[in-house]
Amino acid sequence: MFYIGIDLGTSAVKLLLMDSEGKIVNIVSREYPLYFPHPGWSEQKPQDWYEQTILGIEELIQDVDKEQVAGISFGGQMHGLVILDEDDNVIRPAILWNDGRTGEETEYLNNVIGREKLSAYTANIAFAGFTAPKLLWVKNREPENFARIAKIMLPKDYIAYKLTGVHCTDVSDASGMLLFDVKNRRWSEEMCDICGIRVGQLAKCYESYEAVGTLLPQVSAQLGLSPSVKVAAGAGDNAAAAVGTGTVGDNMCNISLGTSGTVFISSKQFGVDRYNALHSFAHADGSYHLMGCMLSAASCNKWWMDEIIGTKDYAAQQQPIEKLGENHVFFLPYLMGERSPHNDPEARAVFIGMSMDTTRADMTQAVLEGVAFALRDSLEVAKSLGIELKSTKICGGGAKSPLWKKIVANVLNLRVEVPESEEGPSMGGAMLAAVACGEYASVEEIAAKVVKVVETVEPEAELVAKYEERYQQFKRIYPACKPLFR
Ligand code: XUL
Repeated sequence: MFYIGIDLGTSAVKLLLMDSEGKIVNIVSREYPLYFPHPGWSEQKPQDWYEQTILGIEELIQDVDKEQVAGISFGGQMHGLVILDEDDNVIRPAILWNDGRTGEETEYLNNVIGREKLSAYTANIAFAGFTAPKLLWVKNREPENFARIAKIMLPKDYIAYKLTGVHCTDVSDASGMLLFDVKNRRWSEEMCDICGIRVGQLAKCYESYEAVGTLLPQVSAQLGLSPSVKVAAGAGDNAAAAVGTGTVGDNMCNISLGTSGTVFISSKQFGVDRYNALHSFAHADGSYHLMGCMLSAASCNKWWMDEIIGTKDYAAQQQPIEKLGENHVFFLPYLMGERSPHNDPEARAVFIGMSMDTTRADMTQAVLEGVAFALRDSLEVAKSLGIELKSTKICGGGAKSPLWKKIVANVLNLRVEVPESEEGPSMGGAMLAAVACGEYASVEEIAAKVVKVVETVEPEAELVAKYEERYQQFKRIYPACKPLFR
């Protein structure tokens, strides 16, 4: 049988076709626009997601026996607010995970409602990109839109709804709304009251590997697929990527170098850190995870290459970089503000330390290193909780670069294990579909059977020591610049 994994990303939807043994049969990617209507705002049109997803599925399955397609599932960009009216029309463009407009609402939640209450109700505090502050923003700034809300959804759930007619979400993605009682895996009535909504306006919440329904007749006819194709709830892109890289069970780590950058640590036990510096979310395998999320990771390199240097040949720009751990240029990667650990939507990117002999390659290197140092910030929080890690998986577009993987391994002092494919969320989505269809008994079982590590990057003691010194310098730059961002 075949399973379709849909990674509804920020720059594109990436679709993957997997067979029963976990072999990737085809991969397709289709882009859609991202809108920045004001500095720090970030929006997309749910209609664009759906149109490109349908075109992508058509392209993905054009050369295979469509009767063999048994299931579809997702990894989706998290936290985005999608609101539908009572006729299920989209009320306004989706407000995305990297949107920083909700500074005031985030302050209100953390300081007036209070972090202790938020943490007791949801296991998390408010971050500007989370869904609840966005709902409050719509309530305060667009009351006419707020009054029309019949359903509140997350990005991938809109696609599941269009495919099946079912309003659904899953535990991992729901965790990032600040409306979900993560420990007990159910909606928080208290948080709904605080945000002025009813639980009935939220979708039914499933485990990620559960089927929510089958294809609507008109969709199955359009795609040439059987109407009995099952659609599984799927997961937020980080939990899906963790499944796709085999980061399931206890104390496993995955680093995602996508538009965002995350350090994801799986755990059998529910846990919250004292300062809520890491997100405490439900995992797609039925358990939990902790996660640090930086808002701009591979997107820093994309911005530097595409917008500033003006090239698409990223490898050519990285090729002259040889000397690691000795760069005097530093880069703070906060192009969209920063989430973990600073929770500062007003933070901005900074280059510092250039001299007359600084080269373009030094600055390119600083961008790659700045992202690795910022990931290390989240890893340090995990270490302070007593979490000990020796290795990590890696995925996302940035994982294509051998140089970047080497920098990450040495800055974080972790063995980096590279899975066969860097397509984390779409692979995880396809695997969740296979579990929902009964091909495998559990997420742990399919992960153990299909995920293969093909390369290992070991940290080197000398380089680790050099980067340790650099990291200690890097850590001092944000506090020094912080007053200038206001
Ligand atoms: C996670 C987060 C990002 C998005 C990117 O909390 O905000 O990783 O899910 O798609």
